Amino acid sequence: MPLKIALLPGDGIGPEVTNEAVRILKYVSEHSGKSLSLSTHLIGGAAIDQTGCGLPEDTLEACLGADAVLLGAVGHPKFDGRRPQERPEAAILALRQALGGFANLRPAVCYGALAKRTPFQPDRVRGANVLIIRELLGGLYYGEPRGFEASGNTAFNTMIYSRHEVERVARVAFERARERKKKLASIDKANVLETSQLWRAVVNDVAAGYPDVQLEHVFVDAAAMRLAISPTSFDVMLCENLFGDILSDQAASIAGSLGLLPSATLGGRIDLYEPVHGSAPDIAGKGVANPIGAIASVAMLLRYSARMDKEAAEIEHAIDDALAAGARTADIAGPGERALSTREMGQAIEDALHEVRDRKHSYHAV
Ligand code: IPM
Ligand code: MN
Repeated sequence: MPLKIALLPGDGIGPEVTNEAVRILKYVSEHSGKSLSLSTHLIGGAAIDQTGCGLPEDTLEACLGADAVLLGAVGHPKFDGRRPQERPEAAILALRQALGGFANLRPAVCYGALAKRTPFQPDRVRGANVLIIRELLGGLYYGEPRGFEASGNTAFNTMIYSRHEVERVARVAFERARERKKKLASIDKANVLETSQLWRAVVNDVAAGYPDVQLEHVFVDAAAMRLAISPTSFDVMLCENLFGDILSDQAASIAGSLGLLPSATLGGRIDLYEPVHGSAPDIAGKGVANPIGAIASVAMLLRYSARMDKEAAEIEHAIDDALAAGARTADIAGPGERALSTREMGQAIEDALHEVRDRKHSYHAV
């Protein structure tokens, strides 16, 4: 059975980085014998322009019929000023809800070759490897009531969580922590918010089933500070929706660029993969965006939706090797370093992947 992937390139740099993700998918397919069935669909501003709707019915249908969804990015400044529900971003939120994935995994790692491109002293960031697990279907993003009052001078959103919503994402976090360093930081604002008090209580309840995992509760403001001064002190961080949104952008400082971060959204009907970065309208169409976040999202897709762990690890290895060999897009190029185009970076990673596989095969031959 072919692996059915619905591609949603979206807006801005979305199509450019998705092309490179597809290049790697095709390479893996050719060399592993796993056949692929790819289909491309509209979402976001591109869909609004062509159909009047950010998440057209046939896009949603294709996603629900796929094994996995790979999204590029959505958003365009021409929609600025529109109400949230009429913006391209609303399409992603509706898609997430329809697919049902509630656990958004956002790993941020320091690639050794880029340690000096981060805002940290290299010794402080080397070895940093944080997995943010962001609750994706609750909190302020979806809470009702929401809106503007008639006067237009008052607006409101609702932060709401139920025990069930916290419990299921906490379980994912403990499971992941168990496979890593067995350290989990649950992030909240329990000194101010009732939702955080519930969050903390439920996380403590779930913790009873994971006595081998060391749990700490950290206030979100303190967590932001700690990420900024001592990123290696975290392993898995469990966050509600908005805190996770904010901290995952901040965690990009560990890697050196938001363009490097992938994500996977698990636990629903269909899993969704997307780079953490947005549509970056300022560089869209120039062919200079960093495709690594999208390519690393392919690795996550193969690991979680196709159980192709070996291929996933090879892609991650290839990214590391390409960076170690000096491949740089503009966002991570240092002074005097030549910046590759999006395509050249995709090619560099494909070449590195080829070498990773060759090396492995020659080990086997020995
Ligand atoms: C992200 C993005 C989205 C979010 C936007 C585009 C709706 O910032 O995936 O982090 O806030 O979840
Ligand atoms: Mn975000």
